[in-house]
Amino acid sequence: MSIRLPRGTQDILPGQVEKWQLIEQKARELCHKFQYQEIRTPIFEHTDLFLRSVGDTTDIVQKEMYTFDDRGGRSLTLRPEGTASTVRSFVEHKMFGQANQPVKLYYMGPMFRYERPQAGRFRQFVQFGVEAIGSDDPAIDAEVIALAMALYKEMGLKKLKLVINSLGDKESRAKHREALIAHFSPSINEFCSDCQSRLEKNPMRILDCKKDREHPLMKTAPSIIDHLNDESKQYFKKVQQYLTDLEIEFEVDANLVRGLDYYTHTAFEIMSDAEGFGAITTLCGGGRYNGLTEEVGGPEAPGIGFALSIERFLAALEAENVELPIDQSIDCYIVALGEEARDYSVGLLHKLRHAGYSAERDYSDRKIKAQFKAADRMNAKYVAVIGEDELKNNKINLKIMDSGEQKEMELASFIQDFTALYRN
Ligand code: HAM
Repeated sequence: MSIRLPRGTQDILPGQVEKWQLIEQKARELCHKFQYQEIRTPIFEHTDLFLRSVGDTTDIVQKEMYTFDDRGGRSLTLRPEGTASTVRSFVEHKMFGQANQPVKLYYMGPMFRYERPQAGRFRQFVQFGVEAIGSDDPAIDAEVIALAMALYKEMGLKKLKLVINSLGDKESRAKHREALIAHFSPSINEFCSDCQSRLEKNPMRILDCKKDREHPLMKTAPSIIDHLNDESKQYFKKVQQYLTDLEIEFEVDANLVRGLDYYTHTAFEIMSDAEGFGAITTLCGGGRYNGLTEEVGGPEAPGIGFALSIERFLAALEAENVELPIDQSIDCYIVALGEEARDYSVGLLHKLRHAGYSAERDYSDRKIKAQFKAADRMNAKYVAVIGEDELKNNKINLKIMDSGEQKEMELASFIQDFTALYRN
């Protein structure tokens, strides 16, 4: 039996991979404009990191992590997300001591979650994420959201919905927690076993339960917004004001709780509104995490960030029928006829590439027609033909594929002449 790829993973083949590169390139450009710098952290981390940060009552930690013991008996986990690693690295490398705060970082790479695969949900997926750590200025909340929105918009998405909420500070959350316990306690045995164990540990997670979504008590659950203290309210107001200043439309959804434990104050998601987009409409999720640096053993350094997967990004582009401007052409294809010309073309090809052009030749000793066909398939802008006669006369025949026009050029000065023509 042949071996196939694991469930929930995918091969990204040439033809598709160019779209990924385009998004990655745009993300890097935007990060440069917004002054976020790239960080690369390991694909696996000590399991404890995720227990402490993502939270041991979350679905991610309880059901979705790829955890294993290495040969030294250490429990390691393939990263399910990038915030924990980035914050660990921030603390480990004492970035809190840098002169410029917040430290603004971005990452791009594979994440792993053992989820039920479906459209837009993979077991290995690629996240692009940013984290700004070391400031609790609400302007940075707006900046982070603006960056995500700019990336989607500049790639051509229009049908986007930004939803925000505030999860408040410690004090507000403690009050909300009490209200949730009072609300759910009397009927907690009608809920799933996960929710029952979450009641005391982390009742907010009940609101995020997929099994008990339809229980009537879910709709009437006390919302965090009603439990925000004045400081948290003020903070949330300021974030909204900045978003309005930046002309970014949003909706406030008091039920948005997010699936990770580290959030405080601002939480947000960007959804696709496109018709025909699958059941999972969230493209991007993020929020503020004041207190997370302390959780992983560092000093206080409030942070905020987001992550989005390229897989869902591409699905949204497809749902909105956005054609990405992908250049699949090459500059020059060399058609060589006869052994001598073929030998000569090896050096010529190298010279073209060295001069900065994308160039290719035939490697299968094919006839002239087949070589021209190959040039066509590669969308060659120019085809350089060398046969025995040309070689004898030190000439090369250049065909401009757009117009069909042909030009005879001197072999000795071909690269210069080609460059002059190309730049014209
Ligand atoms: P998250 O909401 O778990 O947040 O994931 C963020 C994004 O990753 C989702 O909106 C979605 O685009 C993508 N994603 C998640 N799971 C999958 C999957 N199984 N298949 C495809 N795409 C997926 C976080 O990961 C936080 N670390 C975000 C953050 C950064 N918060 C603050 N900073």
